[in-house]
Amino acid sequence: MNTPIYQDAPTSNPKVLAWVKEMETLCKPDAVHWCDGTDEEYDALCQLMVEHGTFIKLNEAKRPNSYLSRSDPRDVARVEGRTFICSNNKNDAGPTNNWMPPEEMKTKLHGLFDGCMRGRTMYVIPFSMGPLGSHIAHIGIEITDSPYVVVNMRIMTRMGRKVFDVLGDEGHFVPCMHSVGYPLKSGEAGPAWPCDPENTYITHFPETREIWSYGSGYGGNALLGKKCFALRIASVMAHDEGWLAEHMLIVGVESPDNEKTYVAAAFPSACGKTNFAMLVPPPGFEGWKVLTVGDDIAWIKPGPDGRLYAINPEAGFFGVAPGTSDKTNPNAMISAAKNSIFTNVALTDDGDVWWEGMTKEPPAHLIDWKGNDWTPGSGAPAAHPNARFTSPAAQCPTIDPDWENPNGVPIAAFIFGGRVSHDMPLVFQAFNWAHGVYLAATMGSEATAAAEGQGAMRRDPMAMLPFCGYNMADYWSHWLNMGRTLNNPPRIFRVNWFRKDENGKFIWPGFGDNMRVLKWILDRVHGDGFAVESPLGWMPRHEDLPWQGLEFPQDQFYELMSVAKDAGQEEASAHEVLFDRFFDRLPKEFIYEREMLRSRFWRGPSRWELARERL
Ligand code: GTP
Ligand code: SPV
Ligand code: MN
Repeated sequence: MNTPIYQDAPTSNPKVLAWVKEMETLCKPDAVHWCDGTDEEYDALCQLMVEHGTFIKLNEAKRPNSYLSRSDPRDVARVEGRTFICSNNKNDAGPTNNWMPPEEMKTKLHGLFDGCMRGRTMYVIPFSMGPLGSHIAHIGIEITDSPYVVVNMRIMTRMGRKVFDVLGDEGHFVPCMHSVGYPLKSGEAGPAWPCDPENTYITHFPETREIWSYGSGYGGNALLGKKCFALRIASVMAHDEGWLAEHMLIVGVESPDNEKTYVAAAFPSACGKTNFAMLVPPPGFEGWKVLTVGDDIAWIKPGPDGRLYAINPEAGFFGVAPGTSDKTNPNAMISAAKNSIFTNVALTDDGDVWWEGMTKEPPAHLIDWKGNDWTPGSGAPAAHPNARFTSPAAQCPTIDPDWENPNGVPIAAFIFGGRVSHDMPLVFQAFNWAHGVYLAATMGSEATAAAEGQGAMRRDPMAMLPFCGYNMADYWSHWLNMGRTLNNPPRIFRVNWFRKDENGKFIWPGFGDNMRVLKWILDRVHGDGFAVESPLGWMPRHEDLPWQGLEFPQDQFYELMSVAKDAGQEEASAHEVLFDRFFDRLPKEFIYEREMLRSRFWRGPSRWELARERL
């Protein structure tokens, strides 16, 4: 008999054991810990981090079982410039991804990972993206030297021993290798937030379906089940296997007569997915319910009836904290009321958390996200703009009863929306599937961070620009193909909550009032909503949206909906610039769609409102 490699391994899967041994030999940690996913393990790791200074235990009476963590100020967000898709062929990564030959990247990574866990414990985290055993779900194993990653993965995924039971001895898993990149000298305790910003690499090997991430402990760089697996690697799997892995929230809407309709919506990062996923219907919508399935990622597969079914592969929310309040998103506030981890928010004098926008008046004194004293006059934000809460999805008051249904929920509509301050209407519907894919592929969103160039339009196809693990043009073809195989493909819509007036103020109240737009979308899906044809697509008139409980004059509505003729033509030209980058693989349909868009703007009335007058 062979002696087992690991006496305490909760699996006998030979591939897992061999891989863990190989990684141990490479990284040279002091110890290997197989995560079991229990409360005891979670509590012990949190305690360990409290002792080390990585975690601050929050006031148990105000924020039960919750912790604050402050990252290294150099490690506060995903780093797209250091994210690579290492396909064998450069053109398979496409023009929107960083690329390096796989052997070259592997050599570099082996150099970095060699001995990188000295003085640390190596944790082995088995996790399922999606309900355990669901035919839409997939298993991953993350190896990390960060206990912060372990406890966050415990909230964000189904994690622990039972994953090995589902995996068995033959099951397939995606290996996810992670290190903060800070080996310890003997006796050294090291910083509270170890990282190596100079050598950070977030790398993906689509052909072998591996992930290697080095140097960052933050969010999507380190919780590898999320963007690295559930989007970049899964998008490749989805392409090969005939499904979709998308940067989408999923909601169910229940009408007063109990008709349930599910929609999925793709908005770029920090454009309101979490808010829309937990939307509270405004006054006047009594009896309507919006129920949450997911707030960031959707895995969508065709069902036997020819419809698309979606699951949320995650088990928690990793939500943007600033701007979240009892007013803007009470359901997120309740989700984060306990059993949560807060990263880079401010600490109040009574041991609770605070961030910009949480209350109208800031507290008189705080400790800011860098650990310094803060007062309202300090001049800098108390919480980092990308500060996040990690909270169990099950704590969301609006969580859908079917959110863990292994068969997913049927999707009736796809909604796409960026952040656009002018000449992009509040809502319109695509003429058909191919036109809808075109609208999604050409979606633009304006940068918010000054560093990215305030207001500059960045094309973010399907909100997947940083997350598509292969050539974006092949991804568009995949979307077009999916529509051809479905009996009744979801209807496709564009929305824009972010239009501004000449004073730079948002014209649309947004948040709960987005229900009015959602209601029109549902009406269209069910065949009883009215719309007029415009150069961009099918548009509602003022009288087609429900206005109960809100004074929103017709003039203002048409200000929100109008597109100047020259702006429409400029938009079509911008699509051409985008497409030029993909010339060799661009789906032909897109050329025709663009020319039709151009001709509609060329020949049509200067403002689409004229269409209304024709009625
Ligand atoms: P990721 O988690 O980064 O993928 O982003 P997300 O899309 O989930 O972002 P989130 O929902 O946290 O959006 C954050 C920002 O959008 C905050 O600044 C919100 O105030 C703003 N926001 C959300 N909904 C609306 C809306 O309807 N109108 C306006 N004007 N702002 C909104
Ligand atoms: C995003 O940036 O879209 C996120 C946050 O959802 S992170 O998981 O850090 O990528
Ligand atoms: Mn996201």
